[in-house]
Amino acid sequence: VAEAHAAARGAGDLAALAAAMAAYPHCDLRHGARNCVFADGQPGARVMIVGEAPGRDEDLQGRPFVGRAGRLLDRMLAAIGLSRSAEDIARAVYITNILPWRPPENRRPTAQECAMFVPFVERHIALADPEVLVLMGNTPLQALLGESGILRLRGQWREVLGRPALPMTHPAYLLRTPSAKRAAWEDLLALSARLDAPGP
Ligand code: URA
Repeated sequence: VAEAHAAARGAGDLAALAAAMAAYPHCDLRHGARNCVFADGQPGARVMIVGEAPGRDEDLQGRPFVGRAGRLLDRMLAAIGLSRSAEDIARAVYITNILPWRPPENRRPTAQECAMFVPFVERHIALADPEVLVLMGNTPLQALLGESGILRLRGQWREVLGRPALPMTHPAYLLRTPSAKRAAWEDLLALSARLDAPGP
C-alpha cells in the first residue's frame, strides 16, 4: 500500500493516474484481466460514481459499467436527467470503480485488494474534483469509509475527502432484488435535490 500511495501521489493528472494504475505491479488480478478499466463519462462532472470492480463486459471493453448493471445504472441516471455522455457538463457524470482489474469469475474483491487501490481512487477523486460522490454498494462504502451494511446505510449522506457522498444499493443488486428499487429511487431523488440546491 505504501507503493500505491507513492504511485498515486506522483500522478499529476488523470492520464498519468491511469498510466500509473495500469503499470502498478503489486496486484495479481492484473494477470487474469484483459484491460485496466479506469473511468468513463466526463471528468469535471459534478457527480462521480464509484462502483466495485469490472465484470466480464467491462474487462472486454475497458470501460466501467457497460454490462447489464451498467445499463440499469444509465437508466437510473437518465431518470434524474444525468448521463455519462451528456454534452452539458452540468448533466454529466464521471464513473469509476474501486478496482481497475476484473476479479476472476467476478468474485468479491478482498479487503486487501481494495486497500491497495484506495490511494489511487482517492487521488482519482481529487483530480476529477466532483462536487458529489455516489458510492455504489458495499465495496466503495467499506473501502472509502470503513463502514459496511449498504442496506442500512444507503441514502444516508456521508463525507469522503470533504465531499458529500451518498451510499446507494448497487444496480446489480437491484437487478436481483427488484423490490429494492423503490428505495433506490428515493436515493436518486436525494441526489438530484442536492444538485439542484443553491450554493456549495
Ligand atoms: N459492477 C461494478 O461495480 N462496476 C462495473 O464497472 C461493472 C459492474
